Amino acid sequence: MQFFIDTASIEQIQEAKDFGLMDGVTTNPSLMAKEGITGQQNILDHYKKIADLVDGDVSAEVISTDYEGIVREGKALAEIAPNIVVKVPMIKDGVKAISHFTKEGIKTNCTLVFSPGQAILAAKAGATYVSPFIGRIDDITWPGMDLIRDMAEIYAIQGFETLILAASIRNALHIVDAAKSGADVVTSPLSAYMGLLKHPLTDIGLAKFLADHEKANS
Ligand code: G3P
Repeated sequence: MQFFIDTASIEQIQEAKDFGLMDGVTTNPSLMAKEGITGQQNILDHYKKIADLVDGDVSAEVISTDYEGIVREGKALAEIAPNIVVKVPMIKDGVKAISHFTKEGIKTNCTLVFSPGQAILAAKAGATYVSPFIGRIDDITWPGMDLIRDMAEIYAIQGFETLILAASIRNALHIVDAAKSGADVVTSPLSAYMGLLKHPLTDIGLAKFLADHEKANS
């Protein structure tokens, strides 16, 4: 399973890169706004900075919601760098644009996916990645991880090559459950990855090893 970091923060991306396990980056308009990146040129420049920093794929999201606009914006984003993936919302014109980008050899990430039916449409259109939003489904008391399991089953039966990118991941347990459920990729804030490190028995065990070493060597 690949680890993507879900942020537009250069500092967080650098920190994840230094940790050594980061395979790619996902962003969205909310994350760009959070970093204070506004205006067309600044947005393109920021994506270029991220794409240069990262070896793997970087998802950059379109703002347009009509087919022509999505295609125009997506092409401009794809031209920034070879590792840019055009992120397109799960709407009718978005699916049509994903089919177009697939024919053009442009990589896509279909975002805002909340049902197996939507996941089938994205795969049919040839999306490189599809992003089911696990945390937001959990937020409305529906088990988000069921969607990952359904998608993994459907994609395996149908032989779809679209990669399942578990998104809206909020904590370490989400990452473990996504791994168990068949996600190809998880995208998450760095804090959730750091949560995977934690176990009290590790801390207790390490303290004892160090104390025993200290006793024996003093
Ligand atoms: O990758 C999508 C993600 O950014 C959404 O996360 O926590 O806003 O639901 P969240």
